[in-house]
Amino acid sequence: MTDTRLLPATPEGIAEAARLLAEGGLVALPTETVYGLAGDARNDRAVARIFEAKGRPQFNPLIVHLPDLAAARRHARFDAEAERLADAFWPGPLTLVLPLGDTPVSPLVSAGLSSVAIRVPAHPLARQLLRAFGGPLAAPSANPSGRVSPTRPEHVMEGLAGRIDAILDGGASEVGVESTIVAPGDPPLLLRPGGLPVEAIEDCLGRRLATGGNAERPSSPGQLASHYAPGVPLRLEVLRPEPDETWIGFGATGGPLNLSPSGDLVEAAASLFHLLREADRLGQPIAVAPVPERGLGRAINDRLRRAAAPRP
Ligand code: TXA
Ligand code: MG
Repeated sequence: MTDTRLLPATPEGIAEAARLLAEGGLVALPTETVYGLAGDARNDRAVARIFEAKGRPQFNPLIVHLPDLAAARRHARFDAEAERLADAFWPGPLTLVLPLGDTPVSPLVSAGLSSVAIRVPAHPLARQLLRAFGGPLAAPSANPSGRVSPTRPEHVMEGLAGRIDAILDGGASEVGVESTIVAPGDPPLLLRPGGLPVEAIEDCLGRRLATGGNAERPSSPGQLASHYAPGVPLRLEVLRPEPDETWIGFGATGGPLNLSPSGDLVEAAASLFHLLREADRLGQPIAVAPVPERGLGRAINDRLRRAAAPRP
């Protein structure tokens, strides 16, 4: 249990929030849509702790928050339509799903996908904290999994007290629903309706957004049809690997490649996508030791089962 502090909307409060985030801590961040549960998007452990604090049974990709378009351009690749939408609606309640850029974030943030969701929030405190922190913040809504999104610091305290380091007190969120999520492309896709009306986006682009989707272009968030999957076969719950298999261990079970030699599920989540990629590069089939089905173990097993499933 952590003592969750309520930080005031003062320069000192913002500086303290930035310091906690730089240390890998979790801070609830006021935005104009809803409160976000923010952690350093470059820090695997911090991102793993976000999933743990929310009790999320799955590693859905998270939105990366940045202070401005210049920072966003370093983290994602913008085509002409993406530039036009950013120019028209940022800062504001619009999230763009774009190809990953040159500046890396933890693969846990994008759930191993090659795209990343980027948002530049309008809330003055969010912007000040992003500038003070000086890096990308991963932030899903600051509620326990399965509960409604919080629009006041009291809501965050109710749901997450003891699980996060601090809440930056920004009062009530104005918009009250999450950001609208769009994946520019041909056609541009609406991935989630939200605080920015679809009509405004369609007027800006001069064409309609599509809501259908397929495996490469997921149609609705949380139901991503495409997941990171290694190029080699993968078996789960393996206590004795075959000689030609790369074994990914957990705890006392396993060889040199180990999700967490001490059996810590936060550490295991933080290293999951790195180890899968490393094992994939070796080119041999992958065998993964059993991971307990509790806490973050449920999300780890969910991802492993998807990675092990036969591909279409
Ligand atoms: O208003 C908001 O957007 C709030 C505030 C805190 O900014 N944030 C928020 O984040 O709602 P979250 O994590 O609850 O929602 C992120 C949604 C997920 O449903 C996820 O599936 C989708 O964005 N998403 C993220 N990255 C994606 C990607 N690479 N491809 C497709 N969908 C993605
Ligand atoms: Mg949410």
